[in-house]
Amino acid sequence: MDLTGKRVLVTGGAVRIGKAIVQALQVAGAEVVVHYRRSKAEAEVLSPFAVQADLQCLEECAGLVKQAGPLDILVNNASIFTKDTLPEGTPERVRREFGINLFAPMELTRAFAAQAGRGGAVVNLLDRRIRSNDITCAPYLLAKKALADLTRLAALEYAPGIRVNAVAPGPVLPPPGSSAESARELAGNLPLAKLPTSGNIAEAALFLLRADSITGQIVYVDGGQHLLGNGV
Ligand SMILES: NC(=O)c1ccc[n+]([C@@H]2O[C@H](COP(=O)([O-])OP(=O)(O)OC[C@H]3O[C@@H](n4cnc5c(N)ncnc54)[C@H](OP(=O)(O)O)[C@@H]3O)[C@@H](O)[C@H]2O)c1
Repeated sequence: MDLTGKRVLVTGGAVRIGKAIVQALQVAGAEVVVHYRRSKAEAEVLSPFAVQADLQCLEECAGLVKQAGPLDILVNNASIFTKDTLPEGTPERVRREFGINLFAPMELTRAFAAQAGRGGAVVNLLDRRIRSNDITCAPYLLAKKALADLTRLAALEYAPGIRVNAVAPGPVLPPPGSSAESARELAGNLPLAKLPTSGNIAEAALFLLRADSITGQIVYVDGGQHLLGNGV
């Protein structure tokens, strides 16, 4: 797929990894709609097309696609990451993790597919932890594992018109509020001995969007960390 002139929606695209994906798409000639929840000013600096929605509300997902469309590409990037073990997680926190990390991308994909009559592509942002059983963030991890399965299932469901792939980052940026040092600790002994960058994640997303014969794939951009299983 040639990205020139393609209309793309990037959820949570105003800051951090989402921003890197937005900027790489713009350099490639795409017209990018930046979705935001709270980062209005950052979104409006990035693109003349900035749309607000709280994706915990599933009704807002279809509305967002309608407002942003007609779309050629959807990038499901918005997320939250809560450290919660199974014993400590509350029903409300579990619902929130599944809401933004699984249900919202699912609803957005359904709405995108319904309007993408001329075909298109979806990229989901996962996490290299899906290859592990990291008990420190169980609800988040379970939601991302389900999103990996949704990637494959939707790839089959929406073929041949729409391709659905995913990027699984390793530790790129520490969660807002924590230090860069903690990211380095999380990285542990990466086989490639360096942290991936937001730009590396964007490169992989653009590769998958352009690759006309690839669907249902997950590309790990994690310095090889997924090879270590639970080795964090
Ligand atoms: N950072 C890493 O090192 C890392 C590692 C592994 C995987 N990943 C994955 O890569 C993707 C990007 O990571 P990131 O760290 O850049 O993401 P992030 O900063 O945690 O979140 C991205 C954006 O999601 C939006 N968001 C959160 N809750 C929302 C809601 N209820 N409704 C609508 N938008 C909401 C926020 O937008 P506003 O700012 O506009 O409120 C936020 O800026 C995520 O899917 C993440 O799971 C990241």
